[in-house]
Amino acid sequence: MEATRENWGSRIGFLLAAAGSAVGLGNIWRFPYMAGSNGGSAFIIIYLAFTFTIGLCIMIAELAVGRRAKLAAVGAYKHSSERWTFAGALGVLSGFLIMGFYPVVGGWALAYVWKSTTGLLADPGAIGAAFGGFITSPVQPVAWMLAFLVLNVVIVAKGIAGGIEKAGKILMPSLFVMLVLLGIRSITLPGAGAGLAFLFRPDFSAVTGTTFLAALGQSFFSLSLGMGCMITYGSYLKKSEKIPSNGLIIVSLDTGVALLAGLAIFPALFAFGLEPAAGPGLVFVVVPSIFAQMGGIGVVLSIIFFVALTVAALTSSVSLFEVVVAYLIDQKQIPRIRAVIGSGVVMAIMGALASLSLGVMSGTPIPLLGVGAFDLFDILTDKIFLAIGGLLLAVFVGWVIRKDDLRAELTNDGAHTFGGFTLWYHAVKYVIPVAIAVVAVVGIISIEQTALMLLGLLVIAVFALFSRRF
Ligand code: PHE
Repeated sequence: MEATRENWGSRIGFLLAAAGSAVGLGNIWRFPYMAGSNGGSAFIIIYLAFTFTIGLCIMIAELAVGRRAKLAAVGAYKHSSERWTFAGALGVLSGFLIMGFYPVVGGWALAYVWKSTTGLLADPGAIGAAFGGFITSPVQPVAWMLAFLVLNVVIVAKGIAGGIEKAGKILMPSLFVMLVLLGIRSITLPGAGAGLAFLFRPDFSAVTGTTFLAALGQSFFSLSLGMGCMITYGSYLKKSEKIPSNGLIIVSLDTGVALLAGLAIFPALFAFGLEPAAGPGLVFVVVPSIFAQMGGIGVVLSIIFFVALTVAALTSSVSLFEVVVAYLIDQKQIPRIRAVIGSGVVMAIMGALASLSLGVMSGTPIPLLGVGAFDLFDILTDKIFLAIGGLLLAVFVGWVIRKDDLRAELTNDGAHTFGGFTLWYHAVKYVIPVAIAVVAVVGIISIEQTALMLLGLLVIAVFALFSRRF
């Protein structure tokens, strides 16, 4: 095992790939609309607080668990205890479910690169209707989703160092540059101040239990936590790398990009007198509207923006894909190519259902649950599985793995120190499981979709029961 495990080609390669996994649609598509529809800065403050406490601790824990076992999510749990295998399997399921809707949005981003060049911006008044017409049509968005998925298949089929790492090395830095340029343009528009106030002047009157669960879910989703992704990436990490500092860098980069996306969108949005609570269409409707009012340069900026969005989506979706594929390789001994193609076909079917659920199938939601496939995959993962996945990981690390083993893993067998070890350990063992449970309960109570919640919990219970089968 030791000799055959693939490794990251270099430290910077690992960092860029892990940051590439974290930075994605979660930061640029989801973060702004979550902030926009949850009252702006109050949501952002809660999100930041969760990210640098619970998120950072879980990030370090996942990387440590993965590298210690040198196995992906399921194997890493099984390595310590067969009874815990289900927690890893739950992560694989989450990865699968997220890949049921993520490529749909990735496909939209890809489509908007093309649409930016073909007259999307010519009629600013029609941009909203054009987006609605596009995502509800039966063929176009499905075709773009498939195109996006094919890109994933090609990258993941090439394996860790060859595909994912190379893609991250080139694409991540270009994304960063693109966002900074967009942010500068946005902040310097006349009237941008209202957007900055919306982002940075907190108003806690709109905060409810749901806001906390939404912020925690957003934090986990954005950091790729709670579903074994960072366990999987950690399993390819060299023994000489320092986990705590790498974890901090990844968390900071991810948060930085989310805030940058907010800075790129909200000041311009307010400058043009548009609506912050536009929902999932925010990026696709408001941003092109903003660009449309800038004249010729707007077309160029729009292309740059949607290339960046596609790139960010791609480096994240390959990591989701990799969780599923690594499970099939490590636990089921399926060759990489077959694992990639097999799971890719299932994802394509799920993606088609998710896409159609926004259009031709929107009148026929899933019985009892009352939502379509897109919302089902989204809510189940973001609001239930990731939070509970994080809670299970914290309990596993705090109560199953030996403290000395953790210390050895986090200090590279004493080769360097990790000053925050005791604090981290107690946070993971006692505080985080309780904190997540409280947020989940408070948030779940104020969410209407009880049937969905029950379904999610039922799935977890069944997984726990059959833990040894994975
Ligand atoms: N973090 C990614 C994003 O923000 C999504 C993701 C979630 C990737 C979970 C991997 C695992 O878009």
